[in-house]
Amino acid sequence: MFIRSKRVFIDGKLRPACISIHSGRIGGIHSYTFMADSALDAGDWFVLPAAIDAHVHMREPEAPQKEDFTTGSMAALMGGVTSFLDMPCYRSPPTTTVGALTQKERLASAKSVADFGFHFGATADNDELVRRLQPPSVKAFLSETKSPLTLVGPALERHFSSYDACKPLCVHCEDAVLAESRALKLKNKTHEEINSIEVALSAVKKVAAMAKKYQRRVHFCHLTSAAEVNAAKSAVGRNGLPPVSVEVSPHHLFLSIDDLPRLGQTGQVNPPLRTRSEVAKLWKVLKKVDIIASDHAPHLPDEKKAGAPGFPGVQTMFPLLLHAVVGGKLKIEEAVRLACSGPADAFTLHRKGRIAVGNDADLVIFNPAESWTVTLADLRSKAGWSPYEGWRLRGKILGVFLRGEQVVWDNDVLVKPGFGKPLQRTDSIGQTRLDLRRHAKERQI
Ligand code: NCD
Ligand code: ZN
Ligand code: ZN
Ligand code: ZN
Repeated sequence: MFIRSKRVFIDGKLRPACISIHSGRIGGIHSYTFMADSALDAGDWFVLPAAIDAHVHMREPEAPQKEDFTTGSMAALMGGVTSFLDMPCYRSPPTTTVGALTQKERLASAKSVADFGFHFGATADNDELVRRLQPPSVKAFLSETKSPLTLVGPALERHFSSYDACKPLCVHCEDAVLAESRALKLKNKTHEEINSIEVALSAVKKVAAMAKKYQRRVHFCHLTSAAEVNAAKSAVGRNGLPPVSVEVSPHHLFLSIDDLPRLGQTGQVNPPLRTRSEVAKLWKVLKKVDIIASDHAPHLPDEKKAGAPGFPGVQTMFPLLLHAVVGGKLKIEEAVRLACSGPADAFTLHRKGRIAVGNDADLVIFNPAESWTVTLADLRSKAGWSPYEGWRLRGKILGVFLRGEQVVWDNDVLVKPGFGKPLQRTDSIGQTRLDLRRHAKERQI
């Protein structure tokens, strides 16, 4: 099969090309006029690499009333996301054992329409298991989760030292102890006031210092402010130190506390929304940010009313970024870096994130001239609400390809549950000598 367009995103920019697809992969990149008679002609619609969402909570098997692998992955595909990495469940069961991980893998294999992978959960007493298992990524929470996933003191440090130094240890950085003392001190204050930037920054600084001490790779989840991004990135610098990666979520770029009157109780999220001036500063440091990830955290409207924090977001993430591109607020190469190649690099996703020969043919066909309104009828998540409901977005995703297969066209998902495959994740990004030494040590254990 051949697809051609005047604007295909290749090597960091849009240019005319014809791409050939063989056995689900990009077989060749040719001139625009190559095979003109038989190519699908996208005219001047953009042909982009499909997006990757490295931070979603698909809720299975823990809370299937909120989401399951089929509904969550259909929402992903509709939003141009063909690959996702699922966060560990908190309880019933927490994804912190081999059994719980295997159960998730089985469920996703049978039910997902998009390609999938998992972050393994760190607890106070599974660092020895993590040392033996060495999963491709691990998630730890410094914030209060009322689950075994919250780590304090020595437990966190044990994971820092025992988990493979060149694999990403993902951390939710909010200081649970500081937040609690602020909650006691600041009675009658809001969620946003208690869980301030200060609370997040305190955790980021601790984690950055530990990354330096253990010379290890750390991925900072959903940072909300320029100060946090700068503190996280300060961990990089010494020779041989594996790079730190930084994530931001769409709601910290596209929403602020000014949206709270409109959103009411549904506006609650961890970490909280910030002021408009902080949001503006975050946009200014986007160049230092490695990936955007939705932190898709679906809760039902009734659960939101009862105070559950989190927003559904996997379906609106790439459209929001592309809306910013069409509006001139963001360059297309930045949007693609943050949503496609950045996550593929940060999580070493084999053959994903770029339109290049040999890679999977995961593509988004995008018409910058059209626009659409976010309505509940179009959203596939079980959440049944969105903070962006009613927003008019510029540009429209017309179609999506996953491994060469047309998976979305004209607002419809065209493949069945089970189409999604486990993501292949290579061991390292080509790390330093330091890592090679560590690997040698690890293998003797
Ligand atoms: C997430 C959830 O609901 O699981 N909620 C949230 O507010 N972001 C948890 C998390 O990502 O910290
Ligand atoms: Zn390694
Ligand atoms: Zn989090
Ligand atoms: Zn999350």
